[in-house]
Amino acid sequence: MVQDMIKILDQYWYVFLEGLGGTLSLAAITVFFGMIFGAVLAIIKLSKSKIVQFISTAYIEIIRGTPLLLQLYFFWLFLPKYLPFEISDWTCIVIALVINSSAYVAEIIRAGIQAVDKGQMEAAKSLGMSDVHMMTRIIFPQAVKNILPALGNEFIMMVKETSLASVFFINDLMTSYQMIKSATFKPIAPLMITAVIYFIVTFSLSKVVKAMEGRLSVSD
Ligand code: ARG
Repeated sequence: MVQDMIKILDQYWYVFLEGLGGTLSLAAITVFFGMIFGAVLAIIKLSKSKIVQFISTAYIEIIRGTPLLLQLYFFWLFLPKYLPFEISDWTCIVIALVINSSAYVAEIIRAGIQAVDKGQMEAAKSLGMSDVHMMTRIIFPQAVKNILPALGNEFIMMVKETSLASVFFINDLMTSYQMIKSATFKPIAPLMITAVIYFIVTFSLSKVVKAMEGRLSVSD
């Protein structure tokens, strides 16, 4: 078994490497755009207009209430059929991932903002600050402490969740596994290698998030 693993690693290391690159870039792109759309959704959800509030709440609940794999299938089937221009499988999958992540990020940001002590808002108001001034200077700098580590965890989550993209043979680590499995007729050894790579990545990233959490809480 270990001998099989060494032989496969020796022969196919670049396939794993390419897959890992694919996985990390998918996760990074997803969380980056997820952050932008998630922030917009969170702001809308905290707004005063009932109707836009309803739309953003419905979006968040529907996305979080259906499986990511189903959403991948949906956008992968729907976009090429109804868009007036050609769209690659990769783009469809990225769009689905971003839409999924934005719903989770919206909740992270909303919770982060609402976790800031109510007194801070009252104090800012009593000093006569405008809403925008209060949000940007008082509330948001404190909310960042709650939001940043959670975004780090979302990135770790996405590193794992993007493995679902292998169903569509998008360049990611799990797709590399599928390719090597088919090429070698050995299903188990490359699976173990893939597991070790995922674990090393998520474990190190979770240490980074922990350290970040520690540093951010110092100023409390
Ligand atoms: N695997 C779960 C699902 O299919 C969780 C998805 C988590 N997504 C996220 N962006 N954190 O629903």
